[in-house]
Amino acid sequence: MTKLVLELISPEATAALARTLAEALLPGDVVFLEGDLGAGKTTMVRSMLGHLGWTGSVRSPSYALIHSYPTLQPVVHHLDLYRIGSAEEAMGLDLDHHLRDGEILLIEWADRLEGAVTPRFTVHLEITGSETRRARITASEMPILTQETFRKEQSPT
Ligand SMILES: Nc1ncnc2c1ncn2[C@@H]1O[C@H](COP(=O)(O)OP(=O)(O)OP(=O)(O)O)[C@@H](O)[C@H]1O
Ligand SMILES: [Mg+2]
Repeated sequence: MTKLVLELISPEATAALARTLAEALLPGDVVFLEGDLGAGKTTMVRSMLGHLGWTGSVRSPSYALIHSYPTLQPVVHHLDLYRIGSAEEAMGLDLDHHLRDGEILLIEWADRLEGAVTPRFTVHLEITGSETRRARITASEMPILTQETFRKEQSPT
């Protein structure tokens, strides 16, 4: 288990983290995005989808629960489970099926799944100011995301 804490000093820093994560994604990956309302979970997903090649708009799947981006390779699904009724209702979303097909799941409010899906990355965002966030990243394996690689991301040479 790898853990990393990053002080995101601006929306640009959050976008840089999103890019690093997007580049690390592999088929069948699951990313949990945690943090209070307005912490920046959807903002990070929007940035990640942009780096993965999505040029359209990205809105929160607050009521639909899931928005899919079938033109991306691999296909990406963005979920916001804040309003889901139960873990059983989540079963109806057939997440295992998507993962077996090598698709990627980016999930807000994944606690609603009660452990039914295991993430490769978890990003917990904490609001530290109007434009600043603290990111706590947990990765299940492979220390591909280090403070060092992130610094390089923020200051390209
Ligand atoms: N450094 C930053 N990183 C991310 N978002 C920031 C930052 N600074 C300001 N913001 C703003 O914070 C807001 C985050 O909203 P967003 O919808 O992404 O939150 P959320 O975590 O998805 O909330 P919800 O739980 O309601 O879905 C946006 O308006 C964004 O512009
Ligand atoms: Mg959101």
